[in-house]
Amino acid sequence: MSAVFSATAEVSPAWSPASWRGVPIRQAPSYPDAAALEAVESRLRAYPPLVFAGESRRLAQQLALAGEGRAFVLQGGACAESFGEFTADVIRDTFRVLLQMAVVLTFGAKVPVVKLGRMAGQYAKPRSADAETVDGRTLPSYRGDIVNGADFTEAARVADPARMETGYFHSAGTLNLLRAFAGGGYANLHQVHRWNLGFVERSPLAARYRDLSGRIDETLGFMGACGLGADAPQGNETEFYTSHEALLLPYEQALTRIDSTTGDCYGCSAHFLWIGDRTRQPDGAHVEYLRGVRNPIGLKVGPTMTADELLRLLDVLNPWDEAGRLTLISRMGADGVRRHLPPLLRAVCRAGRRVVWLCDPMHGNTVSTATKVKTRSFDAILAELRGFFDVLGVEGVPPGGLHVEMTGQDVTECTGGAHRLTEQDLGDRYRTFCDPRLNAEQSLEMAFLVAEELTARRRGAAR
Ligand code: PEP
Ligand code: CO
Repeated sequence: MSAVFSATAEVSPAWSPASWRGVPIRQAPSYPDAAALEAVESRLRAYPPLVFAGESRRLAQQLALAGEGRAFVLQGGACAESFGEFTADVIRDTFRVLLQMAVVLTFGAKVPVVKLGRMAGQYAKPRSADAETVDGRTLPSYRGDIVNGADFTEAARVADPARMETGYFHSAGTLNLLRAFAGGGYANLHQVHRWNLGFVERSPLAARYRDLSGRIDETLGFMGACGLGADAPQGNETEFYTSHEALLLPYEQALTRIDSTTGDCYGCSAHFLWIGDRTRQPDGAHVEYLRGVRNPIGLKVGPTMTADELLRLLDVLNPWDEAGRLTLISRMGADGVRRHLPPLLRAVCRAGRRVVWLCDPMHGNTVSTATKVKTRSFDAILAELRGFFDVLGVEGVPPGGLHVEMTGQDVTECTGGAHRLTEQDLGDRYRTFCDPRLNAEQSLEMAFLVAEELTARRRGAAR
């Protein structure tokens, strides 16, 4: 495919890490103390980057493979990380479930799985309303721990720039542990599979998962016999990348660095940054900031996106059509995916653009219970995934992977799954600060079901 040079790119005005400031912005907190904000930004500008540009480039290469069906992306983690859950156990458990899912998906997809945590910086949240009213009292909305506090008090809801610095250090601490786990033997393939066997035996659907799990067991046994067993370095280490929504632009700007090897600017708060569905206006501040950093980036694509708008965003965000630069994260809802995704997919194909398509089966499937608890049903999540695979299959586009909100903890936030959680169960352990997440067992179950689905589709295609 030849490179595309768009007119937009040639005439676009100069970019700088601060150029978003001259552009209309949505979802931005207003900080009452401008001097305190400036002081924090200036300290953050001097702090070490959290990631290196070379790591982001390596991730982009792997995403390019996912765009061609030669890798499969698993992006997952909490909707909102919280400062109160900054513990080794929470980080380890989420990392562990992502690895468990990755083993199963590798087997199903038959290609390497790119592991991308919604971790180590997923602290800022867009909100549907600027204010929240409880019992007749109205206060500013909670915008994530990096902005203000979740408690419904006037003091907690003030946007406090000191939280940005806390966010930086929490991200650094999280990343440090993730790097240690990924490189220090915690990622041992055989051990990870043993955990999966434990999951299968506990599941009410054990019989269904035993077959796939048995085949993984056999494969690992074969690898061991070939000298690729538990002691081989390949089986002990993994690459793990971090990502978050690049929503809080003063923070992102302050962590922008020039890469000394290429002279390019990178957002160094995470390897991969994405633009949310509420802040994706082609002439808005978030698109302005992200068009200039060279990280691989994501764009959420919801049901209100039009084909024209999407093509315009492709021109602005990836004018040279670089493979691996742009990941489109479809989040249409189980009811909308078969209607809204095909025209967008066709427009991108017709324009000959290189993108990676991920399915976020969470954000289009959020519902409120009668008692106003936000939840998602496991069946709707799965239905959207199947719809996504079907729609891409019709166009002959490889599915690039999944984007999920999950946790390693045993929470009760999404209904359904093998343990058949009901709306009544939600009260037991509903802990999210924002959207409902799949718990550890539901996450693994989803990985098994997706792996089955991918295997069946491959067999169907080979027939
Ligand atoms: C999210 O990923 O938590 C989110 C807010 O998603 P979206 O922008 O797709 O609504
Ligand atoms: Co969310």
